[in-house]
Amino acid sequence: MESIYLSSCNRLAKVTIIGAGNVGRTLAQRLIERNIADVCLLDIVEGLPQGIALDLTEAQGLESHHCEIMGTNHYQDTENSDIVVLTAGVARKPGMSRDDLLKINAKIVTEATQKSLQYSPNAIYLVVTNPLDVMTYLVWKTSTLPKNKVMGMAGVLDSARLQTFIAWQLGVSIHDVQGMVLGGHGDLMLPIPRYCTVSGIPITELMDAQTIESLVQRTRDGGAEVVRLLKTGSAYYAPASSACYMIESILFNQSRLLTAAAYLDGEYGLNDIFLGVPCRLGSDGIEKIVELGLTEAEKAILHSSGDSVRDSVEVALNFLK
Ligand code: NAI
Ligand code: 2OP
Repeated sequence: MESIYLSSCNRLAKVTIIGAGNVGRTLAQRLIERNIADVCLLDIVEGLPQGIALDLTEAQGLESHHCEIMGTNHYQDTENSDIVVLTAGVARKPGMSRDDLLKINAKIVTEATQKSLQYSPNAIYLVVTNPLDVMTYLVWKTSTLPKNKVMGMAGVLDSARLQTFIAWQLGVSIHDVQGMVLGGHGDLMLPIPRYCTVSGIPITELMDAQTIESLVQRTRDGGAEVVRLLKTGSAYYAPASSACYMIESILFNQSRLLTAAAYLDGEYGLNDIFLGVPCRLGSDGIEKIVELGLTEAEKAILHSSGDSVRDSVEVALNFLK
């Protein structure tokens, strides 16, 4: 399938990825090798994005795709992007507090947004950098972007992890399994078992409560489990696939219903916050937020998750003053 931008404007869509680390470079590879978009990969480290772009370009004849990738350290090269993905940031190092990390990544992400906006004021901004829900809020708050054009990637990843664990547990094809995880990308994420299905059958009909709880807990610990195994760095293949999935729905106007960190303006009883909720993603970005019926216990978790994100947002905004 060709990108809508090829047929309607006679040009391929352009996706800028800020940060050529593990997630950024893997996302770049997914986008070009699937013929989804041309990519501009930007990093602060000189030579890094250029080297990755050259390496990926030298594989083009073997991979048989028709997308171009350029690596750069200059924002003018990001001009006229349709989507800007923010993956730049630092990982938490020994001795660094959560607030230290928050401060550093808040500065990186907001500066990258300001610079990108100069060249791509009409783009859709997709945030990946952690802490995800806080960074997504900062991108929206420190820009003049409308709420439908700013979103964060986490729910697709968390749902994909749950989907994997359900398929393994039941011994069924992963293609028949749907996972549903809402809320913040952290300890208070909210997997909802009755909305997780296998060929339309809720998993609550297929597994006992204790088994479900173990899969839910493994999903909450999903990022940490990969970190423990890798020892250096965090997950990037599934995160890159998740961002790619969202980008594909936007650029191909597929109207897929995916969990994205979206600005809530009364939905789920929450205001002025970004949290993971089911969204219809199309060429206008977040085109609709779907409000699911939640139990009182689920609402309480979602609101606690919101409170925790709000506290970190306040800390970050104070740093940025
Ligand atoms: P990484 O450390 O491999 O890459 C980060 C890159 O950002 C580096 O290449 C670095 O040079 C670059 N960078 C730092 N400051 C910059 C600046 N001012 N301008 C441009 N580039 C800059 O990290 P990785 O694994 O790629 O992860 C990136 C971020 O995504 C992290 O914050 C990580 O926690 C987060 N993440 C979020 C996920 C989610 O579900 N939302 C999933 C996986 C990762
Ligand atoms: C993850 O969930 C680190 O947020 C990242 O893998």
